[in-house]
Amino acid sequence: MEMNEIHLEKIDSTQTFAKEKASQFPKDRITCITAEEQSAGRGRYQRKWVSPRGVNIYATFYFILPHDALHLTALAHVMGFSCAQMLIAEGFHPKLKWPNDVTLHRKKIAGMLCETSFLKGTAEIFLGIGLNVNMSHEDLVKIDQPATSLKEETGKLWDKAAVLKKLQKQFSHNLELFKKEGFFPFRDGFENLLAFKGETIRCFDGKKEWVGICHSLTNDGQLNLYMPEKGMHTLLSGDILGVLNKN
Ligand code: BTN
Repeated sequence: MEMNEIHLEKIDSTQTFAKEKASQFPKDRITCITAEEQSAGRGRYQRKWVSPRGVNIYATFYFILPHDALHLTALAHVMGFSCAQMLIAEGFHPKLKWPNDVTLHRKKIAGMLCETSFLKGTAEIFLGIGLNVNMSHEDLVKIDQPATSLKEETGKLWDKAAVLKKLQKQFSHNLELFKKEGFFPFRDGFENLLAFKGETIRCFDGKKEWVGICHSLTNDGQLNLYMPEKGMHTLLSGDILGVLNKN
């Protein structure tokens, strides 16, 4: 089924807009809200998402899932994986930095933000993605972590609308599978693209720091960190802060 598409010239955040207008969106298909520019783009953990005008994809996908849908927390992983698949089809070699950042040459090119609200036995999903498409070198270096864009990687300008269409197609397909089987069908593919696999990493789970070897993913997308002295520790959510050694 076709997506319902809403394109905005300028907005604070496509996430905030989607939440405000959700009651007006159809419930039987995905609504994809995009913007040319965001004045208050949001990232995970209250970070800012740098959103200059006209150059990148800023999109929120809104849809409904049953309240008891399998592994809801892995939905952002499915979007990250969809983005990586789309980039692979374009000839890139992306990695997935757990939980769901997409990177090229260890620089972030896309980030996901998944927010949910529960309504009458169903879950409303607001799944945001920011993908740097034609962002200039001058703008990329202003970001507080290593970042890249398709233009930076290839030296050419990309057709933003065409990239978005490919991403939408890949994600719609993957969402159907996720609805039936949860994250499990994506686990191996995601793990094959996992950044820092086998390397010692420093992670933050929202409360505490952990150091261990980036080992594998659980069937529902959690990160297994192997600590030689304590054994396996599984992180449900959080962030990789850095790498301690390169094997
Ligand atoms: C992250 O990596 O921290 C997540 C970044 C998510 C950014 C996107 S851009 C479209 C949507 N609107 C927002 O305000 N945030 C998400």
